[in-house]
Amino acid sequence: MCGIVGYIGKRPAVEVLLKGLSRLEYRGYDSTGIALRLETENSEGSKIEIRKSEGKLENVQKLATSLPAQAKNSLCGIGHTRWATHGKPTTQNAHPHRTGHVVLVHNGIIENYQEIKEELLARGHKPASETDSELFGFLVLDEMAKGLGLREAVIVSFRGIIGVCSVVVMSERELGKIIGVRNGTPMVAALDPSGGAILASDAQPILEYTNDVFFMGDGDLVELSEGGAEFFDLTTGLPKKVESTHLDWSIDRIDRGGYPHYMLKEIYEQPTALVDTLNALLDRAKIESFPLAKHRGTELLMAAEELVFVACGSSWHAALLGKYWLEKYARISVSVELASEFRYRDPVLRPGALVIGVSQSGETADTLAVIRAMKKQGVPTLAVVNVRGSPIAREAEGVFFTAAGPEIGVASTKALLTQFLTLLTFAGALSAKRHHEHGKKGSTDPLTDALFKNTLVLPHALTAYLEATDGVAKQAQTIAKSLVDAKGFFFIGRGYSYPVALEGALKLKEIAYVHAEGYAAGELKHGPIAMIDSDMVVVVLAPKDAWRDKTVSNLEEVKARGARIVSIGAPSDSHLRSLSDFWIPLPELEDDALLPFAMTPAVQLLSYEIAVLKGTDIDKPRNLAKSVTVE
Ligand code: F6R
Repeated sequence: MCGIVGYIGKRPAVEVLLKGLSRLEYRGYDSTGIALRLETENSEGSKIEIRKSEGKLENVQKLATSLPAQAKNSLCGIGHTRWATHGKPTTQNAHPHRTGHVVLVHNGIIENYQEIKEELLARGHKPASETDSELFGFLVLDEMAKGLGLREAVIVSFRGIIGVCSVVVMSERELGKIIGVRNGTPMVAALDPSGGAILASDAQPILEYTNDVFFMGDGDLVELSEGGAEFFDLTTGLPKKVESTHLDWSIDRIDRGGYPHYMLKEIYEQPTALVDTLNALLDRAKIESFPLAKHRGTELLMAAEELVFVACGSSWHAALLGKYWLEKYARISVSVELASEFRYRDPVLRPGALVIGVSQSGETADTLAVIRAMKKQGVPTLAVVNVRGSPIAREAEGVFFTAAGPEIGVASTKALLTQFLTLLTFAGALSAKRHHEHGKKGSTDPLTDALFKNTLVLPHALTAYLEATDGVAKQAQTIAKSLVDAKGFFFIGRGYSYPVALEGALKLKEIAYVHAEGYAAGELKHGPIAMIDSDMVVVVLAPKDAWRDKTVSNLEEVKARGARIVSIGAPSDSHLRSLSDFWIPLPELEDDALLPFAMTPAVQLLSYEIAVLKGTDIDKPRNLAKSVTVE
């Protein structure tokens, strides 16, 4: 996901920016760029020099070696790593963007970019890139043309923006300033003890210079200058005080990115893990929806007439969720099997069946055994695995690698979400294939196209959801305090929410050692409802989707029997909220099918906060192992 660094002070800016961007590489990106202030005009008559490139940071590091001396000695600049949402990951679409004398970088989504673009075209502007980001530069340019200073122009321009986005702007007209705005995506600023100031998408690039940082809130604007950093309120434009925080981080905690536990860090890394996984799965140079990269795994998937998933634990939950997506979008027959059961059955597989092992570790003994046995029988096999070189990856005929990166917390979080994404992508790719086969060659399928579009912006939406001040993390903390002594928990849901309910219960058991059951909401009355009394908590997953009303009826049944209710639903669902003792609103996502990507972090955080209060060993829960290599 996009990363931002800005610096002004006494150090060579190019070094601060490139080092800072390297610290943000973990966020996932597909192009990079830097902009440096010059003391005198360059050969193009401008005072800000830009270098950018598609691909990895090293491309820009190479370009930086041939910068003119005055750019190399520059003491002020901004840098960016981009993950493409609007427009392909090309050099032209890479940030920084120049619009006249305005140069900017941007992180997030401008939702009303189409309207803004039309208005700008009507005003005679000609955007050079396909990005939504560049448009903001035109807005600032027009406001400055009316006589406003850079800071005021940014404030006024922001009034027309709908969406979650942070921007950092420079102008050749006010070369001693960098203006940064946080609006939904994170931004941290700090004073450089040797003079000047720095800002970045997180504290990692800053810790090199100081441990005292300002965590900006949504709607905060910072103005960096050689004199330091001043904060303003984006709505009123008035100066405001932002308290500084001293990060007394041990090396170990720096390794954990400042988080008290790896699990929490990994929960927050989920948007990045999704970005990296999409990059790994797709051939992003293609324009169609869900263009899977070409390899043996893709061939096997595309040829399959029926899918049989085998997995254990959380990976089995991922497969179950995948079934809902695959049936809905790809209309393909799917079965989901527990590997430990399947391997000792005598299953009947039809010709055309593809057996898919889903495993984060790639080592799980039961899943591996099934893949080996199927291979022996000549059944095509595919693996969805997070660890390269792992036995399941080596055994299966084709492999898709999720790109969650190393997951250190034993209880899976980000690896699971990347499995979700992989299976959603399978559904999208098979749906697109099906559409072509039905004689609509060259045409597009609106349902799949919309899903793809919404999937590309999902990591941004998830970041905003996780990082919101007083958002899901805070809500989970408050709820945990009230429920830490509950006798037991049920997690219930229907449709897409059912596998998430299973996962929520598993997480709570694993890390907090609290008894919890995940149930399909419709199953409660077939037995488990006998357990319900006022010592029981029922976590109800009821987003506004096709299943919501039925789930709410089940909620009423357990509420009538005294259970305390935690609901997770649409922010606008005041009825659901009124029925609940505790409430976690979900983000408004365009597509119901993507809600599991937000519901899952919500149940992860709830379990995490309860575990913190219980004082358990969260990253290494008792009796559990990361790789289960025995039966
Ligand atoms: C739960 C968890 C486990 C694993 C299961 C299978 O947090 O991580 O339930 O999902 O042990 O492991 P893999 O996915 O490595 O095959």
